[in-house]
Amino acid sequence: MRVVRSVSEMKVAAMRWRACGQRVGLVASMGALHAGHRSLMAHARLDSDITVVSLFVNPPQFGADTEYSSYPRSLDTDSAVCRKAGADILFAPSVEEIYPPGFDTWVDPGELGSRYEGAVRPGYFRAVGTIVLKLFELTQPSFAMFGQKDAQQLALIRRMVRDLDLPVDVKAVPTVREPDGLAVSSRNHLLTPAQRQHAPALYSSLQEAAALYSQGERRAQALRDSILSALADAPGLEVEYADLVEPDGFRSLKETFPGSLLIAAARLGEVRLIDNLPLEAPADGP
Ligand code: PAF
Repeated sequence: MRVVRSVSEMKVAAMRWRACGQRVGLVASMGALHAGHRSLMAHARLDSDITVVSLFVNPPQFGADTEYSSYPRSLDTDSAVCRKAGADILFAPSVEEIYPPGFDTWVDPGELGSRYEGAVRPGYFRAVGTIVLKLFELTQPSFAMFGQKDAQQLALIRRMVRDLDLPVDVKAVPTVREPDGLAVSSRNHLLTPAQRQHAPALYSSLQEAAALYSQGERRAQALRDSILSALADAPGLEVEYADLVEPDGFRSLKETFPGSLLIAAARLGEVRLIDNLPLEAPADGP
């Protein structure tokens, strides 16, 4: 596995692969790699000649400076994970390489970027859209893998690809979960043992609402109430949002339809947890 630190080296390599007709698969990450990333890499490997993993902790994605400086960084451990997963390139540029002095061009994520995660974290999706567009430019992937866990990010990247006619196929990989249902995330290790015990309540609240749906409940409000009342009983969880949305535009729904998405976010002490669950079509169909 080759470690690439500079933008110019990355561009030259990507242009060569393109010229030789090699199929590049990109896994974009901010490091602190875990089972979710390993799953993205495994999926990417299946379909690519060259698997590129990018590792860049993107400063504008963070609110307070402390959040950025305390984000876990472990290049040696992450390189070992990528090597073991069979990645060909680890692209790990510095902040100055990505945002040279004078940088001031950003992706406007539109209305989709202002809801839910975008409302809780202003500027977040502008930063995500911009870095993902730059990574697509620099690595020239045929396809890029993103986790279903960050469903709004996935929707936003798909929309950006569609709206800007980017020649990249965006593929989603199912959320990887701990045995108790908690979605795997780089931030989970920041939970205290007591918080960790209560954290799976977020996913189980979504599962309870999905169970209501399979029993025939179709009113979005009833599903929202179910999530909120389950979370009200979970010690330490402060709900930020809970809703039923359509998965492409993240618009709040009044009625369910197969494929609509239950979403929720909550704070557990200093740690934010987000999760989602798509509603499956009933076996006998609506
Ligand atoms: O999901 C992430 O890890 C980040 O938001 C991404 C897509 C790598 C952009 O920084």
